[in-house]
Amino acid sequence: MNIFYGKAALIDFLKSIKTTHSTIGFVPTMGALHQGHLALMQKSLYENEHTVVSIFVNPTQFNNPEDLAKYPRTLEEDVKKLTALSPKIILYAPTVEDIYDGQPVSQSFDFDGLENQMEGKFRPGHFNGVGTIVKRLFEIVEPTNAYFGEKDFQQLQIVKKMVAKNNLKVNVVGCPIYREPNNLAMSSRNERLSDHERETAAIIFQTLKIAKEKFKSKSATSVSEWVQKSFEKNPMLILEYFVIADEATLLPCLRKNKNKKCRAFIAIVVNNIRLIDTISLN
Ligand code: PAF
Repeated sequence: MNIFYGKAALIDFLKSIKTTHSTIGFVPTMGALHQGHLALMQKSLYENEHTVVSIFVNPTQFNNPEDLAKYPRTLEEDVKKLTALSPKIILYAPTVEDIYDGQPVSQSFDFDGLENQMEGKFRPGHFNGVGTIVKRLFEIVEPTNAYFGEKDFQQLQIVKKMVAKNNLKVNVVGCPIYREPNNLAMSSRNERLSDHERETAAIIFQTLKIAKEKFKSKSATSVSEWVQKSFEKNPMLILEYFVIADEATLLPCLRKNKNKKCRAFIAIVVNNIRLIDTISLN
């Protein structure tokens, strides 16, 4: 497997292998790779001639220094997983200096309000950091297709908006959520959970599934109140937010409308570890 730690060598290599018709698939990650990441890569390997994977824990998207310090960093293990998946994968694992050419600072973006909902409210500056790194990586890799998991649905919509507003020539592909055997959405942060916390966190998706059923006959407000009450009974899982929102605008779905796609979004904190999940309600 080809591994690059600096952008100059990666750009040269990509120039040398690209032909007029070849496609480049790209899977940006922050490492601590799990089956959900590997599924994105499998899709990219199947749909493109070349697949680039990046592993970079991007400091500018962390609003909480403790979260950044504790984010799992497992490059050696990740390289083994990538090699086993396919020797064709091209890995870019840059340093902060290589990406930011100096101090890591975010650019300021206008995502037409998508950035002000849910994660944006609870993680100030997070989406400016995501926009900055994803744009930078797209400029370096120049992918044809880029793959993102739907667990971070708000991030997916924001990346699509950033691509449209900057006229970038990349097709952004959203991919289904991968779940652990107990249905907890796969996330690199799950590595920080104890066995007991991981088992208890199964309640998150169970709640989303019941909320989906309830939403067939009840209003968004009444479903939200029910979710709030359910988590009050379980002090181990602190509910940060539960929102039923329009998939396109991410604004709360106050009224049901058959032309509108609604989705439930949830964020839970377990022992200072933030977990998010989402489910389509249509
Ligand atoms: O979803 C992630 O892992 C990160 O937000 C991303 C897209 C790799 C940007 O750092």
